[in-house]
Amino acid sequence: MENVSSVHLLTGATGFIGGALALEILDRSPAHLLCLVRASVSQSAQERLLDSLTNAATAYGRSDLEPEIRARCHALRADVGEPDCAIDRLPNVTVQAAWHVAASLSFKLKSRPSTLRHNVEGTANTLKLAKALGASEFNYVSTAFVAGTTTGTILEQPARDPTATNNPYEESKIRAEMLLEEERDCTVRIFRPTIVIGHSKTHAATSLAGLYAAINGAVEYRERKIEALLGDRPLHALGDPQAPMNLIPVDRAVENIWRIRESGSTLRIFHIANATAPTVSELNDTLCEAIGIRPPVLTDNEECLSAVEKIVAEDPRNRFQRPYLSTRRYFDLTHTTAAIGPMASSHPLDAGTLRPYVDWQLQRG
Ligand SMILES: NC(=O)c1ccc[n+]([C@@H]2O[C@H](COP(=O)([O-])OP(=O)(O)OC[C@H]3O[C@@H](n4cnc5c(N)ncnc54)[C@H](OP(=O)(O)O)[C@@H]3O)[C@@H](O)[C@H]2O)c1
Repeated sequence: MENVSSVHLLTGATGFIGGALALEILDRSPAHLLCLVRASVSQSAQERLLDSLTNAATAYGRSDLEPEIRARCHALRADVGEPDCAIDRLPNVTVQAAWHVAASLSFKLKSRPSTLRHNVEGTANTLKLAKALGASEFNYVSTAFVAGTTTGTILEQPARDPTATNNPYEESKIRAEMLLEEERDCTVRIFRPTIVIGHSKTHAATSLAGLYAAINGAVEYRERKIEALLGDRPLHALGDPQAPMNLIPVDRAVENIWRIRESGSTLRIFHIANATAPTVSELNDTLCEAIGIRPPVLTDNEECLSAVEKIVAEDPRNRFQRPYLSTRRYFDLTHTTAAIGPMASSHPLDAGTLRPYVDWQLQRG
């Protein structure tokens, strides 16, 4: 890589968004990617990187990028949660830009110390390494849910209260953003995606989180025949039917991230959100129809739940999803629109366009 004119540092390339972002960068620029990757028991970091990016390229209908993956993607064995990212020796390379996407998506209270280590210390460690390698810009993929417990219109403004959150994941992402607020040497951009779903054309995703966890939960509900315990009564669950469910396809998310960077905007925080998001009720109906179960009746009143429904509601996965199903939040897009225009955030997802994403996951099994 020594004679290469442009190198970008990237974390999280073996994951859902980082993999899609790697393909976007390969497609849109001649840059080489230096990727911080953990090795596994059976595979080296480089093998893992090539396998996962090739898999992502296949899933997104971009097998044409395979030669670029092999030629321009270089793994550096690292763990961002460890001091100095657990790298013994700095590679002899200068990087122009850093993209920090890696994170733990665990929301469990018992995993809080590990989530904070991966996401907060992980951000500090990656920033330190990026600067040591000469990066003049640090692009951080955060989450729109640094909004925490705030409702209503959420502005593209700094998040400063790590105590007003629904889980340690949100807390960790706020603390990571706060840490970056102190940074003065590098240009920092913070991208805040909402809930990322599969590719807009192939509908494939390399993720088991977010929408995919919800689909798997609903399938499990069907398989365990819980509906039969309810008799004629449809399941009642906690949620607000009219709350927006801000889903955005992965290719549109990474395209917007890249275009904002290329726009030269001097703004700092950008929502990567859908201006035309469906509602909880629309998603609920589409998902249940695809799975073949009766759509639950959504209510904000816990007293309306039967004993069985209370057990379903208290399942940790359902408890985790509750704030996202019952809160009306509207992600303001002023900065993103100023950088790349209003159409970039318009991804209408009505029942007809949502269904193939659900079907794709059901076929994956
Ligand atoms: N998915 C969403 O809907 C969504 C929405 C908003 C924001 N985000 C944000 O987007 C980012 C990526 O999320 P994702 O959905 O792509 O997650 P993901 O599929 O779980 O990928 C996480 C990536 O981070 C890497 N990673 C985690 N800990 C690491 C460590 N200690 N050292 C090195 N690499 C590490 C993982 O590597 P391994 O392969 O080794 O595990 C993997 O490549 C996160 O920052 C998340 O907060 C995601």
